[in-house]
Amino acid sequence: MPLKVGRGAEAPPFLVMDVIAAANARAAALPPGAPGVIRMEVGQPGTGAPRGAAEAAIRALRSGTPLGYTEAFGLRSLRERIARHYAERYGLAVPPARIAVTVGASGAFPLAFLAAFDPGDAVAMAAPFYPPYANILTAFGMRPLLLPCDAATRFQPTVAMLERLDPRPAGLIVASPCNPAGTMLAPEELAAIARWCDAEGVRLISDEIYHGLVYGEAKEASAAAFSGSAVVVNSFSKYFSMTGWRVGWMVLPEDLVRPVECLAQNLFISAPHVAQVAAEAAFDCIPELEENRARYRRNRDLLRRALPAAGLDRLSPADGAFYLWADVGHLTNDSPEFCARMLREAGIAATPGVDFDRERGSRFVRFSYCGPEADMAEAAERLRRWLRP
Ligand SMILES: Cc1ncc(COP(=O)(O)O)c(C=O)c1O
Repeated sequence: MPLKVGRGAEAPPFLVMDVIAAANARAAALPPGAPGVIRMEVGQPGTGAPRGAAEAAIRALRSGTPLGYTEAFGLRSLRERIARHYAERYGLAVPPARIAVTVGASGAFPLAFLAAFDPGDAVAMAAPFYPPYANILTAFGMRPLLLPCDAATRFQPTVAMLERLDPRPAGLIVASPCNPAGTMLAPEELAAIARWCDAEGVRLISDEIYHGLVYGEAKEASAAAFSGSAVVVNSFSKYFSMTGWRVGWMVLPEDLVRPVECLAQNLFISAPHVAQVAAEAAFDCIPELEENRARYRRNRDLLRRALPAAGLDRLSPADGAFYLWADVGHLTNDSPEFCARMLREAGIAATPGVDFDRERGSRFVRFSYCGPEADMAEAAERLRRWLRP
């Protein structure tokens, strides 16, 4: 008898992981002394956890404290520290009781989606988008509803786009700064979207994982400032440079606190204890983290200056995060083939746009600029030689 394979098995791959594997294979096959592969595909800081966070983890390991399960919503001291972060950074009073520590932002999405939506529900998001939003929804039998966005709205949704949705979706996911375009919603735009969602009974999920990584004039605002019913998702992976520690958090609306707690108890029990200790200490490492941010800004400025010389001049405004979303439609209509060739011929790994926008991503490439500064200069030069020999 053939065995049943569930609908969750239909979730598409997160293609960037395949690009990472191809770049690793290419790097391993290079002869000694050959120029290495420049990694612009990964969305993770090249730096490790800030020193104070690592030291707190070492202290916890040495102290003999049994690092067991924590409460499902995390260590109380960490939840209180996150609440203080909302007071200090945004001037918001968020009670620790509404804060859930999660296994990265990735661990927050299944909890939020299962608590807020039912199978069959439509959940809207801008396209291009972070692929796991749609892939997780699909695995749960929910329906991603894509709102095609372009440079005219900084790759972000608008209330006018939402007004056209009939019937209304059950939810809306926004991210500001977003991945892959690195663009932001102005605080008043986020406020208008949050008000619209509340008025129309649409659950807003605001992915704020790139907060702290903002450059130039753009201002960041938390959806928690505008709506008591929005779910806010954040993480220690990006600004705090702690991807592998797997800690994130949510600010939950009152009505979802207990449902999410029950789901978290069953699905994860808790986020890793030692990582929570390190995460709490990371809030006291701001000077080191600001140095990382300054480096990302220099990388971004360098690429924005240098890439046009390689003929790559249609770049997203790059308000924040660490990505450039480049329109390469004048060079290819097959971004996976273009990226494979770029890796082979120029030694640069970048992510084809189809990962983020299955319809229009064939003419886009995402470059991540969180790597070392010297790599960015070298990448710009290699691209110039490759595209304008
Ligand atoms: C927009 C966005 N949200 C969420 C995540 C997941 O982050 P983590 O699970 O490491 O917190 C990422 C990772 O790249 C991301 O880009």
